[in-house]
Amino acid sequence: MKILGFQSGHDVSYTLLENGVPSIHEELERFSREKEPLGDGLKMALDRLPASIINDVDYFCLGNYGMYQPAGINKWGPRGCYFQQYVDTMNTVLQKNNGKFFELGHHKSHASNAFFSSNCENALIITMDGGGGEENGVVSAFTVWEGRGNKIYPIDIIPINQFNLGGLWNKYTAQVFGLSIGAPKGSQVGTVMGMAALGNPDTFKENWRNINLMKAKANESEQNQFDIAAILQQYTETIIREKIGHYLKLYPNQNLCLSGGVALNCVAIGKISTWYPELKTVYVDPVPYDGGLSLGSARYVWHHILDNPRIQWTDNASSYLGAEYTKDDIESALNRSDIQYQKVSDDDVLKLLDDQKIISIFNKGSESGRRALGNRSIIADPRSSKMKDMINEKVKHRQWFRPFAPSILREQVTNWFVQDVNSPYMDKVIHFKDEVKHKVPAVVHFDGSARLQTVTKNDNEWYYNFIKKWFEVSGVPILLNTSFNDREPIVETPEHAINCFIGTNIDYLYFSDVQLLVEKNKNND
Ligand SMILES: [Fe+2]
Repeated sequence: MKILGFQSGHDVSYTLLENGVPSIHEELERFSREKEPLGDGLKMALDRLPASIINDVDYFCLGNYGMYQPAGINKWGPRGCYFQQYVDTMNTVLQKNNGKFFELGHHKSHASNAFFSSNCENALIITMDGGGGEENGVVSAFTVWEGRGNKIYPIDIIPINQFNLGGLWNKYTAQVFGLSIGAPKGSQVGTVMGMAALGNPDTFKENWRNINLMKAKANESEQNQFDIAAILQQYTETIIREKIGHYLKLYPNQNLCLSGGVALNCVAIGKISTWYPELKTVYVDPVPYDGGLSLGSARYVWHHILDNPRIQWTDNASSYLGAEYTKDDIESALNRSDIQYQKVSDDDVLKLLDDQKIISIFNKGSESGRRALGNRSIIADPRSSKMKDMINEKVKHRQWFRPFAPSILREQVTNWFVQDVNSPYMDKVIHFKDEVKHKVPAVVHFDGSARLQTVTKNDNEWYYNFIKKWFEVSGVPILLNTSFNDREPIVETPEHAINCFIGTNIDYLYFSDVQLLVEKNKNND
C-alpha cells in the first residue's frame, strides 16, 4: 500500500510511505539550491517520482489543514502552488485505485510524525512551532496529544493568540538580530540559540520584552546581542519546562515525544530529562519543522485512519530517506566535471583525517532534516583546537561563535557526557564531562556543551564502523561533523557535492559507499 504525503507553501516536501515505512522523503530546497523556497509539494512529488509509482498510490494527503484548495482555485497564486494539472493527475489516480485524499491538521501531522517514528508504545506528545491550522478551524502554535498504540488523541490545542513561542523567536531573529527567517537564506533562529551560550541572561531581564529597545541595544554591541539571546533562551526553557510539567501532571507518562519547529531548540530539549528525570524517553523526530508534515500526515493515514499496527524500529527510525545514487551516477558526474578521482579504502581516509585534512562525505541516501548525520557531512579531527577556525575559514563562512557538532559512538556517550542520552538526529545539547572535554576542543561550545549525534550500527552502518576505526587511530570515539554545504542547502546529488567541493577549500571529497576519493589539487580547483 502506497501513501503519498505532501507539504506545500513553505518547507515544501513529499513522502512516499510504503506499507507504513517511508521509502523516500525529499525537500524542495535540496533541489532548488535556495533555502526554504515556497512551492507545491504535490507538483514536486509528481515531477520527481516515476509514473509507475504514482499510478500505484492509494492515498494522497496534506498535513496542513486549510492550505489545500480544490482543483482550479489557485489560492497561493504567485507562490506557484497547486497547479490544476497536478490536481487532475492525483484525482485520476485516486479514481482508478478507489483511493482518497485527506487534508489533515498541521499539528496532528507534527504529532503523528513524532509518535509514529518513535519506539514508544504510549507517549505524551507536545508540538510547538510558529503556527498552523487544525481541522476544527483553530490555528495553533502549541498542541498536546496522547499517543496510544496506533492512535493519537488530542488533549489540548492552544489558540495561537494565547501562545506562540515560534512566532516570538521569528520576531527576535528578524527584528532584533536582523537575521533571516525564510527564503533565500533560510531560518537563522538556530544562530540566535548558539549566541545564547555566550550571553548573560540577567543583563536585559527587566526589559527584554521591549523590542524597540532591544533593537537599539543589539546595534550597540555584539555582547548585547549575546545577552538578549541568552534571556530569550532562558525564557523559552522556563516556559517549556512549565508546560511539560503541567501536562505530565495531568497526563502522567514515561515517554515524551516532541515535534514542531521549536523542537529544533536542542538546548532546551537536552535539559528536559534533567527537569523530569522520571521520563524514560525524550524523543524528537528527525524533521520536526514543517518539512516533516508530509511524513507525519502519511503516517497518520497509515496508522490512525487505516488502523495498521505500529512499526518497531531497530534502534531509531531511519532519517536517511533521500534517493540513492549509483556508482554510475557518481562516476558520470565526476567525469562530466572533468574531475580526477581514485579508488581508496576507509583506512586511507582515516589517515587523512589524522593528518588534519577536512573531508566531505557523500554516502548513499541523504539524511532528511536540518542536520547532516554522516551521509552529507563534512568531517574532521575534533582533537585540534584550530580545526573550528580552519573549517570556518575554508568552507563554512559563518559566525565565529557557532559550534561544530560531535558524532559519537552511542555506547561511548557515558564516558564523555554528563548524561546518557540518545540523540540520533542531533536533537539534544548536553554537557561534556569536565575531565575529557580538553581532548576534543573543536566540538565543545563555549559553555562546555555540544549538540551531539549518537551513532549506532543499525542507524548508519558505514558511519558507525568508520568512527569505530577512527577511535582506534585517534583514541577518541568522536568525529567533528558539520553539514556538507556552504551557506546553501545541504548537498543532495553527486553534482551538488562536486560543485560545493570545487567552490570551497575542502581538502577531499569521499564517496564512501563506492570508495572513490577526490583530492583538491591543481587539477581539480
Ligand atoms: Fe509547524
